[in-house]
Amino acid sequence: MAVIDLRSDTVTQPTPAMREAIAAAAVGDEQEREDPTVLELERRVAALLGHEEAVFVPTATMANQIALRVLTRPGDELLAEENSHVFLYEQGGPAVFSGLVMRGLPGRHGRIAPEQIRAAVRDWSSGHMPITRLVSLENTHNSSGGRVWTLEEIDAVVATARELDLRVHLDGARVLNAATALGVPAAEIGGRFDTTTLCLSKGLGCPLGALVAGSAELMVAARRAKHLFGGAMRQAGIVAAAGVHALDHHVERLADDHARARRLGEAWSAAGLGVDPLQVETNFVFLDVGPLGLTQAEAMRKLDDAGVRLSDTVHPTILRAVTHLGISDEDVDRASELVPRALGAARVAA
Ligand SMILES: Cc1ncc(COP(=O)(O)O)c(C=O)c1O
Repeated sequence: MAVIDLRSDTVTQPTPAMREAIAAAAVGDEQEREDPTVLELERRVAALLGHEEAVFVPTATMANQIALRVLTRPGDELLAEENSHVFLYEQGGPAVFSGLVMRGLPGRHGRIAPEQIRAAVRDWSSGHMPITRLVSLENTHNSSGGRVWTLEEIDAVVATARELDLRVHLDGARVLNAATALGVPAAEIGGRFDTTTLCLSKGLGCPLGALVAGSAELMVAARRAKHLFGGAMRQAGIVAAAGVHALDHHVERLADDHARARRLGEAWSAAGLGVDPLQVETNFVFLDVGPLGLTQAEAMRKLDDAGVRLSDTVHPTILRAVTHLGISDEDVDRASELVPRALGAARVAA
């Protein structure tokens, strides 16, 4: 039996149709802005995210780091939820690449409140303190289990940030999952920010690629930063073609991933595992193995032996399952039974 790989939505393989689109791509020198497929992808993603322009880069990490760089000056302070990807999983990039002071704020399901931002902003008038310049939000929020910021929550934080003369970035690596969950166009979310990142290699199923979007003026700076970071490419239409294909064929199906995650969460919860199905808002399921007396590593070993792969999280006893393009309804049926059995849950289906 094939392994059911629920570690991440980054494990997808390009579909045969995506490989055909890649093979047929018209290409040119991307560094010279002569690659027609990259230009098409950038145009489409800018519109999709509610911005004037977008810049194609190899990874969402680079997209985030470019955005943070163009919105700040060295010595400025960046506020973000303490477990956000830009703080936890990008090796201190904001400090390394942009000289930023990184100030993490405790979140609730990955969300921070306007009052927290108001309380955190420095009075730098005396000349001693760093200038609090930028707030970065993440939607959906990875470390909280793919949780979604609503438009009202975003508006409250963005309005406060604007009032305090702060800039706002959205790590929207999975913003299309957020838009799907909220039932709104992605531009409604992305357009509220100065810059927005979108990743192609997660739910969209591309082998690589991401974009950063913003005003035409900011994207001039973003193109320079991309070159500085070594991200200016040549015949990149080969991979941009996967992105164009994904926009046509892999956006609406994100709702299927969400439905499958919900089904997994409900099945595991019904079997007595530590899952709160109400917290399954997108394509992530958080599973607490603490009540079973297992460590993350022990639980993952048992699951590996049973042919189901989950991944660990920053939370000591919580594992993560993520649905994606490579997970079918049959996989969900099998994982619904295999996981409780492998972990010795209280009420394993007979
Ligand atoms: C929210 C978020 N932002 C950014 C990234 C970075 O993506 P990549 O590893 O492709 O650079 C990830 C990857 O998991 C992510 O979850």
